[in-house]
Amino acid sequence: MQIHIVPDADAGARVVADLFERAVRDAGDQGATLGLATGSSPVPTYAELIRRHREEGLSFARSRAYLLDEYIGLPADHEQSYHRFIRENFVDHIDLDSAQVHSPDGAAADPAAEAVRYDQAIQQAGGVDVQILGIGSNGHIGFNEPGSSLVSRTRVVGLTPQTISDNSRYFTSADEVPVRAISQGVGTILESRRIVLTASGEHKAEAIAQMVEGAVSARWPATMLQMHPDVVVVIDEAAASRLELADYYRHLHTLETEQSSTAAR
Ligand code: GLP
Repeated sequence: MQIHIVPDADAGARVVADLFERAVRDAGDQGATLGLATGSSPVPTYAELIRRHREEGLSFARSRAYLLDEYIGLPADHEQSYHRFIRENFVDHIDLDSAQVHSPDGAAADPAAEAVRYDQAIQQAGGVDVQILGIGSNGHIGFNEPGSSLVSRTRVVGLTPQTISDNSRYFTSADEVPVRAISQGVGTILESRRIVLTASGEHKAEAIAQMVEGAVSARWPATMLQMHPDVVVVIDEAAASRLELADYYRHLHTLETEQSSTAAR
């Protein structure tokens, strides 16, 4: 894992946006397959990508996007659906074709079959080039809660009381938060060619420490990212505060920056 400890969310957003921009440019005419996440953590990155689209001409016209997850029981146009969230916070503000923004259908009559369909659709699209992830305070990625199989596929999952309470800030009350979702599995997420996880705040520090330095375990599903060869972690000082080897990661980062500036000369 490459760990970037950044001073604030805006600095982090620039690092993540650089990786997305590179994926889009590298894909050329074929277009990139972008893995998008909801939650508050990726929002500054989306804002930075929107800015680059408007001010620097970064085009997503040939790209396609796949969301990580969706609440069961919420149709795509519901105020709190993840599909709507990603439209309002990102894709409505860029030139990505709206027909190319894919998510599990939370209103499907048969959610289990919908999960299988969605998993296959990602594979048929050739897999995700770059996946952005946030992390739950209990170490979940997507909605893969503690106890999830570390090789799981897209499926119906039940949310923990912790996640329902964390996500209730978007709803009028905790009673309104759906208790089930369709989520890409840990195994599905791990098939993305590059993964970039971003987090900020003290309430994420334990999950980040487990993810980077803990034993791989279903207790903290994000630890499975240790088994992926290309993961970039972009976190602020508060989220990094429980990392034992934080100074070493800073040192590595300085070395890398020096190397790339030498190469650029
Ligand atoms: C939800 C989403 C996750 C997200 C998490 C953290 O549970 N399913 O994909 O990472 O929230 O959200 P936030 O970034 O708002 O802390």
